[in-house]
Parts: sequence; C-alpha cells; structure tokens
Amino acid sequence: MNRKLLVAGNWKMHGSLAFARDMMAGLKSGLPNDPGFDVAVFPVYIHLYEVINNKPEGIYCGAQNLSEYDDGAVTGEVSAAMLQDLGCDMVLVGHSERRTMHNEQSAEVAKKFAQAIKHNLTPVLCVGESLVQRQSEQTFAVVWQQIQAVIDEVGMAGLASGVIAYEPVWAIGTGETASAAQAQEVHQFIRSQLASNDDTIARRIRILYGGSCKGSNAHELFSMPDVDGGLIGGASLTVRDFLAICEQA
Ligand code: G3H
Repeated sequence: MNRKLLVAGNWKMHGSLAFARDMMAGLKSGLPNDPGFDVAVFPVYIHLYEVINNKPEGIYCGAQNLSEYDDGAVTGEVSAAMLQDLGCDMVLVGHSERRTMHNEQSAEVAKKFAQAIKHNLTPVLCVGESLVQRQSEQTFAVVWQQIQAVIDEVGMAGLASGVIAYEPVWAIGTGETASAAQAQEVHQFIRSQLASNDDTIARRIRILYGGSCKGSNAHELFSMPDVDGGLIGGASLTVRDFLAICEQA
C-alpha cells in the first residue's frame, strides 16, 4: 500500500509572530504547488492563528498539545474543540518532552488522542524509548505499551485516524540520529504488532521518524519501507533546513 509521506515541523517553544510569518512566506515560495507529500507545522498555541491565516494552501497546521477534557475549569489548557474552531488540522499527543517534563502518562495521552479524533483533528501520537530503556532492551515493550494505551481507549479504528511518530528520546535534539536500520526495525515492529490486530489499518497508518532528522540523513530514513516521513524539531526552524528535508521526501 502506498502511503503519502508527511514531513512535519515541530517548532516546540521557539519563534515569534514575525518568525511564523517568515516561515510561511518561505514555504510558500519554496515548496512546489503539489509536492506529492504532506507538510505540516506545529507552532506554539499563540502563533497558531498567524500560521493558519498565512500558510500556503495544502500545508497542515497543528498544535503541540491539547487538553484531555472537553471544557470547564481547567486553567491554562486548550481543548480540542477550541483547536478545531481555530482551524487546526492536527495535534501532537504524548511528545516525549510532555511525558518527561510534564509527567504525562500513557492513559492521559490516550484521553487526549480520543479528544482529538472526536473533534476531527488528526492526532500525531509520539512514542519512543529512553537511552536506558534501549540499553536494557526494552524498546519494543515501551513503544508498544504507549500505543496499546491508545488502542485501549479508542480501538484500532480510532488509532487509524491518527499518525504515529517514533521518536527515540536519545535522538531528540542530541544530534545523534537513529540509523535508518534502527528506525526501520522499530517501525516494522510497530506495523507488525498492528497487523496482528488489523492488517488493513497496519498497512495504511503512517509512521513518522523523529530525532535529529536533517537534510543529510532524511533520504536514507525516508527510503526505509516502514518510514513514512519525519517529525522534525531543530531542522524545522529555518526555511532552508526544512526545505532541505522536504526535498528528500
Ligand atoms: O518533535 C520533534 C522531535 O522531538 C525531534 O526533534 O529534530 O530537534 O531532534 P529534533
């Protein structure tokens, strides 16, 4: 099954309104009209409106997080309905920085995933192991536990509405990329586990790689049979670096 690649830029807590405008102008002039792959950007909440109103046609925009609750007295949080109302297409859930710095547990991540699909946002479920977990050969168990929690909440049909991003924590922002073979091994594991539940969904769902992906290694990573694009952090923060990755898609 042919899966359309997705190149997604997670801007994390970087930028300004001027940065967001400049990035959109740069992508507008730098990307072909119909590139044959999907492109998405994930700015901070307060820059979403600017991006949504200035983005080139065909580029998706998403938030980096959302509330697990519908609405109510939840100070500082933003609901899925609000993101949908604003014009978001996607949302990250369970990024490792949320899991580690904000102690997000898999059950909470699963509730956020459920909120996203309830409001027609495409959730990008981030999963991945720490260095210690890899060294103690827990990679597959950790990654599958993170995915299973979402399946327990929304079922395979719910999971199929989203995208999975495999991001080994030891490769995020470190300059140390997983080799293409290491990425493929985990992506293949995820797909085969999913296939034992539902083969059609397993073949259809997109699995992105994230972790020090850049123009110089994107081609090799994207060439792997189970790697369907990338979730890019640092290299999504300049038009030149991000386009260099898009050129490899
Ligand atoms: O969401 C993106 C990932 O955390 C990867 O970040 O490309 O800076 O390693 P990075």
